[in-house]
Amino acid sequence: MTLAKNHNFKDKVVVITGAGGVLCAYFAKEIAKTGAKVALLDINLESAQKFAAEISAQGYIAKAYKTNVLELDSIKQTRDAIAADFGTCDILINGAGGNNPKATTDNEFHELDLPPATKSFFDLDKAGIEFVFNLNYLGTLLPTQVFAKDMVGKTGANIINISSMNADTPLTKIPAYSGAKAAISNFTQWLAVHFSHVGIRCNAIAPGFLVSNQNRALLFDAEGKPTARAHKILTNTPMRRFGEASELMGGILFLMDEEYAGFINGVILPIDGGFSAYSGV
Ligand SMILES: NC(=O)c1ccc[n+]([C@@H]2O[C@H](COP(=O)([O-])OP(=O)(O)OC[C@H]3O[C@@H](n4cnc5c(N)ncnc54)[C@H](O)[C@@H]3O)[C@@H](O)[C@H]2O)c1
Repeated sequence: MTLAKNHNFKDKVVVITGAGGVLCAYFAKEIAKTGAKVALLDINLESAQKFAAEISAQGYIAKAYKTNVLELDSIKQTRDAIAADFGTCDILINGAGGNNPKATTDNEFHELDLPPATKSFFDLDKAGIEFVFNLNYLGTLLPTQVFAKDMVGKTGANIINISSMNADTPLTKIPAYSGAKAAISNFTQWLAVHFSHVGIRCNAIAPGFLVSNQNRALLFDAEGKPTARAHKILTNTPMRRFGEASELMGGILFLMDEEYAGFINGVILPIDGGFSAYSGV
């Protein structure tokens, strides 16, 4: 199934960070089918190149750029290279992000009698927490500083950030990731207001639990039955299933498209099977 047929981004320059990763590579492939020129940015050039090559092989327009979203010089170099290859940015998708085990507790709850080897809240590593905050928050703010400058006054310009359903209600074990995604939701609203006089809309999606090749083994056993953690997730997801990367695509294309979403600015769209709406009762 492709939703791209419903959208026309011919000759628009779409810049996607984290495009060597699972979700943003998928976005890049679909967005390229709309006629856009897609720039795939990632610190892992090899991965971004692989996906850009797949897109080009299908006859669409894409190119990979090695970029560290935490280094202004790196982002600016990429901006200049994209401008020379495709023109200046029309739409920015800030997709680079993620968690780190050093910022994750072993247990959901602190207890009086935890075994000594348990990594509790008190053992969380400052560097791990900084890594997660920087990657998700600064890694969204810095590319926006660099690319949005060229988007000012352009027709149809917009930014899409990737928040998470844990931004409003934190998930257990991952305080830094939940906090950083809360900051992304807040920053999305801030940007929407700040750029509202110069024609740049800013919105976000907040994905729920998705199955990807990275987490499939954690969520399903060898027989394909949900593991204990997967069972807990499914119990708290009213639709009683995981999402697929493809199910984020409609939201992304919709928010990107001026014809569909021209007056939508500052929303954080949950795509989570009802997870964030459910109190569990
Ligand atoms: N997968 C999910 O279930 C899920 C749910 C909610 C939100 N998200 C968010 O969606 C986004 C994409 O997630 P994903 O699952 O595709 O992750 P992923 O790990 O597959 O991809 C992330 C990409 O970011 C790149 N990256 C890391 N540090 C970078 C840096 N400093 N500069 C440039 N690139 C860098 C990595 O190389 C990787 O290719 C993230 O923001 C993530 O937090 C994912």
